Amino acid sequence: MDFTEWMRHVQQGTEAALGTLLPAANLAPQRLHEAMRYAVLGGGKRVRPLLVHAAGELTHAQPAQLMHAACAVELIHAYSLVHDDLPCMDDDVLRRGKPTVHIEYDEATALLVGDALQTLAFQVLTEHPVSSTAAGQIEVIRLLATASGSHGMAGGQAIDIASAGQAMTLEELEFMHLRKTGALIRAAILIGAHAGVAVTDIRRQHLDHYAKRVGLLFQVVDDILDAEANTATLGKTAGKDAAHNKPTYVSLLGLGKAKRLIDELLAEALEALTPLGTRAIRLRELADYVAHRAF
Ligand code: IPE
Ligand code: IPE
Ligand code: MG
Ligand code: MG
Ligand code: MG
Repeated sequence: MDFTEWMRHVQQGTEAALGTLLPAANLAPQRLHEAMRYAVLGGGKRVRPLLVHAAGELTHAQPAQLMHAACAVELIHAYSLVHDDLPCMDDDVLRRGKPTVHIEYDEATALLVGDALQTLAFQVLTEHPVSSTAAGQIEVIRLLATASGSHGMAGGQAIDIASAGQAMTLEELEFMHLRKTGALIRAAILIGAHAGVAVTDIRRQHLDHYAKRVGLLFQVVDDILDAEANTATLGKTAGKDAAHNKPTYVSLLGLGKAKRLIDELLAEALEALTPLGTRAIRLRELADYVAHRAF
């Protein structure tokens, strides 16, 4: 299977699995369940599920075994987007080419959709273990919880909100990006790897280095796309970082240097994979995709 085919296959499998895991829209409370499905289904690149599968391939995990973990990570991501778009956060009206959840429904529903998606993610991990041992599964749950919380995504979001209109150093910006976006991407990779055979400490370190570089790379590209791409291509409002005075890699470095940073981070990510051999092929292809994507 070439990369494009593989990607489509994982994306379709993820969509189908998420459709089954989410509560049916005709179950009470119907408005909440309908809004949860609206937030998760029918859009998104599914980069984190793709990373779960790519990392699982490295450790000989079976695709069927990875699907639920991939969905759990995507549920956390979808929740983070619903809350990120709220008027008290980025105040966005468009997401994945559709009105944001608080616009299509209302703010209280959007808040509850986020809450319910977050807890559903952990419910999925307890009902469909990815690891063959209880200790392994607890580690998977720990990885997702820490990546989502105040030392991970939520913490990064707190810094993001507090930093609007403020000056930031490059170190502070990296600290924020590694958390708000990098942490969940790293968790996707480490969780996927956890599903298969145990890896040596040194191999885990290489994988972790890759994961951190790709996580940062992802947000640097997001910052550049916000500045350069258009709303129709992105499926979300372009130019809002500048409009909200958010410190980004573009505002700190300028477009030219930010783009050179993409090349550097990609090279570092790929270099970290070299010792991991040929089974890292999908991780390699995904890093390249994250660096060169158009939306
Ligand atoms: C957007 O994430 C928000 C960030 C963390 C930068 P994605 O670019 O993965 O959004 P979808 O899932 O494809 O919509
Ligand atoms: C959001 O970063 C990261 C999250 C944790 C959701 P952004 O605010 O830059 O994401 P977009 O550009 O709205 O997708
Ligand atoms: Mg934001
Ligand atoms: Mg946003
Ligand atoms: Mg952005």
